[in-house]
Amino acid sequence: MNIYQLKNDIRIQIRKHKEEGKTIGFVATMGYLHEGHLTLVQEAKRQCDLVVMSIFVNPLQFGPSEDFDRYPRDIKRDRQLAEEAGVDYLFLPTVDEMYKEKPTMAIHITQGTDVLCGASRPGHFNGVAMVVMKLFQIIQPDKAFFGLKDAQQVAVIENMVTTFEVPVEVMGVDTVREKDGLAKSSRNVYLTKQERVLAPKLYEALSAVKKKVEQEPESYSRDEIVKVVKNKLEELPLGDIDYVEALPYPSLEINEQLSGKILIALAYKFAKARLIDNVIVSMERRENEHVTHNDESKTS
Ligand code: PAJ
Repeated sequence: MNIYQLKNDIRIQIRKHKEEGKTIGFVATMGYLHEGHLTLVQEAKRQCDLVVMSIFVNPLQFGPSEDFDRYPRDIKRDRQLAEEAGVDYLFLPTVDEMYKEKPTMAIHITQGTDVLCGASRPGHFNGVAMVVMKLFQIIQPDKAFFGLKDAQQVAVIENMVTTFEVPVEVMGVDTVREKDGLAKSSRNVYLTKQERVLAPKLYEALSAVKKKVEQEPESYSRDEIVKVVKNKLEELPLGDIDYVEALPYPSLEINEQLSGKILIALAYKFAKARLIDNVIVSMERRENEHVTHNDESKTS
């Protein structure tokens, strides 16, 4: 595995491979790697000739009261895991290297960030978009792999690529979970023993509502889905709900009557860890299908 800290050095190496006709898969991370990150690498290896991973804790996407300083870091272990997973190039820039030239402009996202994590973390997705845009320009990958655990992040990056005509294919990869259903996350290390026992209840609540909605889509509006999940979470003896939301995916535009692909997402605050999770549900309304069918037969 080749390791680079300087953007120009890695840019030159990757350009050489692109000239040889090799396809480049890219996995952006903030490190403290776990199976979730490594699954993105596997998927990138399956689809591309070479895999580039970046590890960079991006200060721009952390709010003033968030965990930038204490975000878990273990570069030695990460290097080993990345190598074992088959990463070809590891990019490890310093904050200085990434933001050497002080930015003279910013990315301001105008849709899809007034909800979910965007609402409770103002500016967060602008910071994500900025660093991902810079990384895309440095690496110039053919495909970039992101986890659907952060479904809003995938939607934001897809929209950014469309808006700015960035020639990268964005690939969403399913959430990797612990055996008990808890979504793997670098922040799970902050959980106390008691919180760790309760944490799988988040996915249980989402899975239960997913099953109900899929069985009876016509009985569930946005409000009802949110209520069912909140009722489950309110039974937990520790922590607080940050948000529960149900939105069309990937537009993320609020709509009371839901149909098609729906993202049901939550954020839950334990003492030192704010956990997020989601499920994507297909809400095919039987009555609507019937109406559409009739309408179609009338017009044809
Ligand atoms: P980070 O939290 O390190 O996550 C890196 C990538 O791993 C993201 O695409 C994330 O969705 C994915 N991931 C995390 N946990 C996962 C899981 N349990 N299953 C599947 N994929 C999972 O997300 C970021 O870093 C940053 O915002 C970044 C995109 C690197 C920009 O700084």
